[in-house]
Amino acid sequence: MHELCRERCIDGGVRMKTDEIVVALDFGSTKITTVVASLNSSENNEGGAHYKILGVGTSKSAGLKKGFVSNIDETVNALSESIEEAESNSGAKITSAVIGISGPHIQGLNSSGVAGIKGREVTPVDVKRVIDSASALAIPNDRMPLHVIPQEYKIDGQDEIRDPLGMVGTRLEAKVHIVTASRSAIQNLIRCCHKAGIHSSEIVLQSLATSGLLLSQDEKELGVAVIDIGGGTSDFAIYSAGALVHTGGIALGGTHLTQDLAIGLRTPQNEAEKLKIEKACALKSYIDEGATLEIFPVGGGAPRIIQQKLVGEIVEPRLEEIFNFLKKEILQSGYQDKLGAGLVLTGGATMLPGTQELAERVFDLPIKRSLPTAMEGLDAQFVHPSYSSVLGLVEWVSVQKRGSRMKRKNTNNVMEPVLNAGKQIKSWFTDLV
Ligand SMILES: Nc1ncnc2c1ncn2[C@@H]1O[C@H](COP(=O)(O)OP(=O)(O)OP(=O)(O)O)[C@@H](O)[C@H]1O
Ligand SMILES: [Mg+2]
Repeated sequence: MHELCRERCIDGGVRMKTDEIVVALDFGSTKITTVVASLNSSENNEGGAHYKILGVGTSKSAGLKKGFVSNIDETVNALSESIEEAESNSGAKITSAVIGISGPHIQGLNSSGVAGIKGREVTPVDVKRVIDSASALAIPNDRMPLHVIPQEYKIDGQDEIRDPLGMVGTRLEAKVHIVTASRSAIQNLIRCCHKAGIHSSEIVLQSLATSGLLLSQDEKELGVAVIDIGGGTSDFAIYSAGALVHTGGIALGGTHLTQDLAIGLRTPQNEAEKLKIEKACALKSYIDEGATLEIFPVGGGAPRIIQQKLVGEIVEPRLEEIFNFLKKEILQSGYQDKLGAGLVLTGGATMLPGTQELAERVFDLPIKRSLPTAMEGLDAQFVHPSYSSVLGLVEWVSVQKRGSRMKRKNTNNVMEPVLNAGKQIKSWFTDLV
């Protein structure tokens, strides 16, 4: 599945067999990030790290808007820069990568299917047939299926079955979540990768990867939404009773806060960005009364002195508006009353002090801000919510690989249906691109 460069054999903390190198690519609207990691292929690694980071490359994003490529050449140049930096930091030659996709063109829908159980007990073939039946939807030509994720199975009316393999019955039902994306958005990203000399081994929904990195199984069981507020987009995934039930995104993020500051304070974008990162808060009440700031005007000239409170008066309502749009999406999903574990916020824009409090006020739910934890080989600057999604992709590949190993060891394993669904989508994908 992941055709990855295999040029190095790394000896990690645990003696590794020939390690597989994985490359993850996140086309963010503010930065393109490439992460090179080596997966620990040791079979006896209980409790140990499953991968280590070999190198990261980042470049300023260009030619991308709201998850779409708007200028191929600009995107290819930015991508090449990110890849070259990751190659130089990791010492690996990058030829292939798993690519994260996000943005408002992502849509999730729930579906179900039925299949008769051929023998006495449910086999992987029965599971594949019921997943195929649940996935047999008419998907418009301009959209592409990305994932089919099983939610639960029913055998002869008995519901809430997570792993039907080996169970006895006659009629198998499956509920699944199907994620689709704009076909042209995917094709253009793939084209950019090809032009930069990269083969795209797999396309993964970013919020799915981020969820794998940041959410615990308990949170998924209780009900939780993970929201990644980036530069140009805010993506979300909702879990209920342990299963993915809703996915989507809106075209709003931290860049809109910067734009509002630039317009409201009549200052250049780069000054507004600096001001936001150094002086802004999500809540204006966090800013001291009487505190002042220097503002550099558009076109040069002497700086003006303004009340710092003014920054909060611009940022707070805009962030509140973004939260209100997201709240509307959650309400429309119908899962707002099933989020026992509340919301997990990540993404660069959640760095603003007071973000959690503002979110609590808008959503009236428990809110946690989350970021990747320190991991072997990861420079401290990347332990930041901006990197949750790309590190989530590495986690995603690692989990899939471990699932495949488990499957080889034990055919009656719970990962089987997920892997089958993944294979099916991969073949759709190959047909369509
Ligand atoms: N310390 C900080 N304080 C406030 N905002 C910050 C901080 N650090 C980063 N940001 C903001 O986070 C945003 C970028 O976040 P992130 O890196 O998650 O986005 P992205 O992945 O490039 O974009 P997207 O996910 O929308 O495609 C920018 O708007 C940036 O200004
Ligand atoms: Mg992002």
